Amino acid sequence: LDISDLKRKSLLNYKPYTYGEQPDPNEKWIKLNTNENAYQPPQIVLDEIKAAVNEKLRLYPDPTCLELRKLLLSKYFVQYNEMIKLDNLIVANGSDEVIDILFKAFIDSGDIVVFFNPSYGMYPVVADLYGAKSQIIELTDRFEIPEGIDQVKGKMMIICSPNNPSGMSVPNSIIESICKKFPGLVVVDEAYEDFSSTTAISLISKYKNLAVMRTFSKGFCLASERIGILVANSQIVQFMMDVKLPYNVSYLSQVSANASLKHIEIFKEMHKEIIAERAKVTNGMRKLKLEVLPSDANFILVKLPSAEIAMKFFTECKVNKILIRQYNKKELLPYLRISIGKPEENVILLKVFQETAKKVMK
Ligand SMILES: Cc1ncc(COP(=O)(O)O)c(C=O)c1O
Repeated sequence: LDISDLKRKSLLNYKPYTYGEQPDPNEKWIKLNTNENAYQPPQIVLDEIKAAVNEKLRLYPDPTCLELRKLLLSKYFVQYNEMIKLDNLIVANGSDEVIDILFKAFIDSGDIVVFFNPSYGMYPVVADLYGAKSQIIELTDRFEIPEGIDQVKGKMMIICSPNNPSGMSVPNSIIESICKKFPGLVVVDEAYEDFSSTTAISLISKYKNLAVMRTFSKGFCLASERIGILVANSQIVQFMMDVKLPYNVSYLSQVSANASLKHIEIFKEMHKEIIAERAKVTNGMRKLKLEVLPSDANFILVKLPSAEIAMKFFTECKVNKILIRQYNKKELLPYLRISIGKPEENVILLKVFQETAKKVMK
């Protein structure tokens, strides 16, 4: 028996997701390559998680994440209370799983799924897994959605805003014009919204085909606990609830997210700090005559004069135990994506960039 003969035929050309580099946890790195939150969860949140390590681990977790959804309404989406109700919310094991459940509920093999390039690398991977036809729309050289997008047809479109890797948000006027004409679901991935001032949430009540995703991995320092959410019309949410695995969000993940929302004020202050640090790092880079895209996220995209120079900066950072994100895609070769670190980490990063600039740029 050859096991490879047993593999699904539709997966013969499938290319799995490539993970961001994970350094040896026993070595001390400044890790700015995967847009995690640089800060540790607040002590009060950690204490609540620790206190929850008890006999309840024996039981299955709440399959509907009821307490978390209530807290989302009362603490996170307070200003939208008139339009978002409990049945407009679904929680999953990270927003990667939200994407997976969307496909499971709405995409048949052969359906057209539209997304943009460059954007988050998970969309084409999940599309391949479900046998969807990926229609990839190239962003302009300023990383903007091109004209004529409202003419595009498909079963689902995924818009990342702020976009990974540019950090730029998509204005609601564009999202609205797409929602009006697109004959399928319009999904806005707002993984980085906590560092931005633009959100499509207010459009949910106006467009029944719109769904907005959020995650606790970035704004709430909980990448490891895997909490992703989706806000949409209750019918969309119900279809997703019907196909998701029953116990997809662990008890400790729910406890972590609940505790974070109870202390949301601490996170709001943290977001302000990260935004201020983002401005400092951006200014520092611009002083070195480097182009930095205007970011609404917890990372920045820096353009170097050439792919070779980008590689030199990447290597020099690595030599100094700083991990940043470099790309192999042709159109991104001269770019480096850098997560915003803690203030002291950002100082070291800028110092390495200054010294490298002296060496490699005329
Ligand atoms: C745009 C975007 N969406 C979703 C995710 C995944 O988030 P989660 O950790 O909630 O699965 C990421 C992670 O980097 C991302 O960049």
